[in-house]
Amino acid sequence: MKEKVIQILKKAFKKLDVNIEEETISKYLETPKNPEMGDFAFPCFFLTQYMKAIPHEISLNLREKIGNPPKGLEDIQVSGPYVNFFLDKKLMSLEVLTEINKQKDNFGKLKSNKKNIMIEFPSPNTNKPLHLGHLRNMAIGESVSRIAEFNGYKVIRANLNNDRGIHICKSMAAYQRYGNNKTPEKEKKKSDHFVGDFYVLFSKNVREGSKLDLDSHHLLQKYEEGDKETLKLWEKMNNWALEGFEETYKKFGIKHDKVYFESKIFQKGKDIVKQGLKDEIFKQKKDKSIYINLGKKLGEKILLRSDGTSVYITQDIYLAELRFNQFKLDKSIYVVGNEQEYHFEVLIEILKKLGLKNPERLKHLSYGMVNLPEGKMKSREGTVVDADDIIDKIQDMAKKELTKRAKLSKKDLESRSLKICLAAIKYILLKIDAKKNMLFNPKESINFEGDTGPYIQYTYARASSILKKSKKNPKLVIYDLTPKESLLLKKLSEFPSLVQKAYEQLNPSLIANYSYQLAQTFNEFYHACPVIGSKEEGFRLRLIEGFRQVLKNSLYLIGIDVLEVM
Ligand code: ARG
Repeated sequence: MKEKVIQILKKAFKKLDVNIEEETISKYLETPKNPEMGDFAFPCFFLTQYMKAIPHEISLNLREKIGNPPKGLEDIQVSGPYVNFFLDKKLMSLEVLTEINKQKDNFGKLKSNKKNIMIEFPSPNTNKPLHLGHLRNMAIGESVSRIAEFNGYKVIRANLNNDRGIHICKSMAAYQRYGNNKTPEKEKKKSDHFVGDFYVLFSKNVREGSKLDLDSHHLLQKYEEGDKETLKLWEKMNNWALEGFEETYKKFGIKHDKVYFESKIFQKGKDIVKQGLKDEIFKQKKDKSIYINLGKKLGEKILLRSDGTSVYITQDIYLAELRFNQFKLDKSIYVVGNEQEYHFEVLIEILKKLGLKNPERLKHLSYGMVNLPEGKMKSREGTVVDADDIIDKIQDMAKKELTKRAKLSKKDLESRSLKICLAAIKYILLKIDAKKNMLFNPKESINFEGDTGPYIQYTYARASSILKKSKKNPKLVIYDLTPKESLLLKKLSEFPSLVQKAYEQLNPSLIANYSYQLAQTFNEFYHACPVIGSKEEGFRLRLIEGFRQVLKNSLYLIGIDVLEVM
């Protein structure tokens, strides 16, 4: 419908001999909060740079050139400097509800554009388990993937395991010292936590220059030389970490199409750096380390250490291009915390110098820190907020809430509580703009009433139960809609354009907040309009059906499953 209004305005501008792009019209066209201002409002202030008149004259002029409202519009009015468009409610309701019913789970989805996108997340280091920050990362990564798919892209979900380097060698050194051949099986511990415990042991006991410290550096050297014993220990501990991650991914509902390992690519990265030195793109210091000077803003960046070992960015220099070649990517998105903004700026600059074509295809989707109310996440002392612990804790809260309400079999309780727990976590993590740092309050997130995932799920279940209870069939009839019905319909019709906006901005928070507003709009409708036994029952059931479908699609885009009963 927005498209139609844009076309109407475009025609009017043409008649006025004013040249304005569709995009500009679309940018200024508003959806007013106040229904008296219509369904769309077009402010004319900005037009004074194109036309010699005051805004109010321009709005009158535009209105005159539009003429009678075309089909689909009930009325077009001028209010001061605004032109307000009122959609034909009856027609609109028919159209939206018919569309939803026809497309079901695909409502809001564009057809394939035959373009590939790679989205990389959460790319952990393999020396310790996933933490709360990774949950935000995974929630964003999966949501953006689904939003891209809804916009017609083929998405390759990728993961990079940073499985080599000094951080792993620290866990390894501690295991050599304190491990006594223990295993996760023997200790009955989730395997990535088992590895993380040794990293913590290392941090607690290390002093600069101590034997433990030296051991970790020796291990790194021996690893890069290919020493058999070292590689064996490395592989054993890495597999423990990776196995543990997989379990968490599965529980959180993510799956990768392509997995990279730093250990398998860093040598190639080193080769590129050495070649770049020969080609005089990079320079060498007296101590033999290789670096690039990126000028005032970004400064100097080491690419290979003086002892020849590679640094974090070495692998990325190779991997960035590898993925473009492997998958013919239109875009390559890295979901990584904002503490690495410098890293990605430097990476893109280096790739430009190395001749990568269209470096703007590479995008760092940056997000802020997550803290618990108790205080900052700390990693070294081992008091880091663990992802698995958070999930377990919130799932327990969900179980408590569920057992208060009904008697459930163990299996039902398990699966339902997990869905609710994940809805709680994902919703809170996504509703806040990714760029911002945020506070995560587990207790608030699980509240069944309020701005939470479970509240939205609950509203869905409520709609389902109304449909089940009614003995009538949903029916599409036209009659004069009440204001709450119109509002709900309007909200439903906003979904497709919102999905596109969410992709353009790579912004799942738009979808999260929309889901909440949609649930609220439904609850207001339901409060004001009786359904079962009313004479509008058939139509209202149809409206509820439409609501249920759009809410389901919207929640899907933020990775949340619906529940028929709660
Ligand atoms: N493993 C890194 C970390 O935990 C993040 C890797 C991000 N991806 C990349 N291609 N550099 O900080």
